[in-house]
Amino acid sequence: MVIVMTPEATQDDIEAIIGLVAAAGGEAFASRGVNRTIVGLIGDVEQFATLNLRGMPGVADVVRVSTPYKLVSRDNHPQRSTVTVRGVPIGPDTVTLIAGPCAVETPRQTLEAALMAKAAGATLLRGGAYKPRTSPYAFQGLGEEGLRILADVREQTGLPIVTEVVDAHDVALVASYADMLQVGTRNAQNFALLQAVGAAGKPVMLKRGMTATIEEWLMAAEYVAQRGNLDIVLCERGIRTYEPATRNTLDVSAVPVVQRLSHLPVIVDPSHSGGRRDLVLPLSRAAIAAGADGLIVDVHPHPEQALCDGPQALVDGDLDDLAAVLRDFPPLLGRTAT
Ligand code: E4P
Ligand code: PEP
Repeated sequence: MVIVMTPEATQDDIEAIIGLVAAAGGEAFASRGVNRTIVGLIGDVEQFATLNLRGMPGVADVVRVSTPYKLVSRDNHPQRSTVTVRGVPIGPDTVTLIAGPCAVETPRQTLEAALMAKAAGATLLRGGAYKPRTSPYAFQGLGEEGLRILADVREQTGLPIVTEVVDAHDVALVASYADMLQVGTRNAQNFALLQAVGAAGKPVMLKRGMTATIEEWLMAAEYVAQRGNLDIVLCERGIRTYEPATRNTLDVSAVPVVQRLSHLPVIVDPSHSGGRRDLVLPLSRAAIAAGADGLIVDVHPHPEQALCDGPQALVDGDLDDLAAVLRDFPPLLGRTAT
């Protein structure tokens, strides 16, 4: 069961509901969105039905939700949400480009990649300081030094930072630098991490687990929402299939499917999906055509020297083509590129 609060609801109104639900043997979790607060209830729905929650001050609606995910479901939140990252919107009216290096390697490489991204129309900078690598011998990222580099590059370019956190213990540190916290495919069902980012007070980008069903992905998002944070952007980044021609298979149908099931914005990562530079533009076009609310794309000034994922990074000339995609495609769908 979910309680939708009015925009005018006060903290006392919310706490009164939490107290009433607790007294009835249940648990209530408040998630504050930009426009309104939603309170998800766990426990005996029939017992809650006796509490006259609809008559409580500040309550706009009480909804019985049949999906296993409640707070991120579109059932009780019919309008699609816009998540704002330091003033940059990600939502149904826009197509937002997040771009930058896969990994932060040096100050110069990060700045060059950020300037390339900005020239292509990016309004948010991506870059990993903590890299989840298949091999323990592969470059693992610069850690806090990488976060400092990102902060300097934000200062120089004005681009807010999206960066991954791979361990619940690092969430506070990464959140002290980041404008948006990324949870990657490999940690998409790391529930302690999801709860920690949910409590960190920063917008979250949650990638789809490479073997996750859409329902599992939305339940992962529910862990974040349950800790009080509805500023979540979902990212389809390709799933594992039997096809080895691409690194992953971009599940383009996930975009409209998830948008029907959830009010959260959905973006696409064409770089990690295809794993190949030559596929990034076609997959970007497909994503926008399917209704994606944004793209997250790897760029690198010298991909042949990249310490992570060079083969999928866009270089100079490609960025003009990406800029053209962002100029031409979103208006066809009534959207603005941001
Ligand atoms: C994302 O950037 C990941 O860290 C990267 O794609 C992992 O690649 P790997 O499997 O080569 O370690
Ligand atoms: C990334 O975007 O840096 C990343 C690690 O991607 P994924 O989790 O999708 O592999």
